[in-house]
Amino acid sequence: MSEPSRLLVLVGSPRRNGNSAVMAEAVARGAADKGATVAVRFIDDYISNFLRDCRVCRKPNGECSIEDRFRELFFDDFLPADGVVFCTPVYWYGVSAQTKAFFDRTFCYYAGSYPDSAEVVARMSRKRVGLVLASEETYPGASLGIIHQIQEYSRYTRSEFVGLVRGFGNSRGEVSRDPGDPLAESIRFGTSFFDLKYSDYHLDTDRAGKVWPEKGS
Ligand SMILES: Cc1cc2nc3c(=O)[nH]c(=O)nc-3n(C[C@H](O)[C@H](O)[C@H](O)COP(=O)(O)O)c2cc1C
Repeated sequence: MSEPSRLLVLVGSPRRNGNSAVMAEAVARGAADKGATVAVRFIDDYISNFLRDCRVCRKPNGECSIEDRFRELFFDDFLPADGVVFCTPVYWYGVSAQTKAFFDRTFCYYAGSYPDSAEVVARMSRKRVGLVLASEETYPGASLGIIHQIQEYSRYTRSEFVGLVRGFGNSRGEVSRDPGDPLAESIRFGTSFFDLKYSDYHLDTDRAGKVWPEKGS
């Protein structure tokens, strides 16, 4: 039997019972129901500092000298994962600082100055990536910068950006009253995460012309 897929659900809000968190839990529930091994982590529990100048602060053995738990999150949860769902509130039309700091801090370990950077680069690459956004504003433009960032992150790491859930709310957990029902959508997203069809064609890609098989075939 094959190993269950490993999903990391990374929450970038400081609010434990906030909108990103409740959607993150829903994604996790869906994925676990489907048999995935799931970890939900709040970035706040692991990162308490921004990236610094690695040339100045890297230890002689190549390790990052910043004293927080980023290393644990990165090596124990992120690198082994087959898929990662980034769950973040929209802050100033971008990801939260926590989420951005997560991306920035990976530099310490994929940079060539880290002794095992080649292995880190390989393990950072080729994951499934998903996005869950909580915002007050409903218009599509409020999320476009973030979608673009995750798309570029996925391209750069040769990952597959398979989907997005947006939930609207402001006070804690208010997304549960969003008539679009982002909690149900989040559960579905989790359930189907490792099966979602991913396609990104080029002009010269060989393709069948149809996206789905005929019914009954
Ligand atoms: C610092 C800050 C900046 C925000 N910027 C935006 C914004 O640009 N657009 C928006 O729609 N909502 C914005 N919001 C509202 C949050 O996105 C919204 O309350 C969200 O539901 C919070 O998610 P959480 O409960 O997971 O923390 C902002 C909130 C804060 C605290």
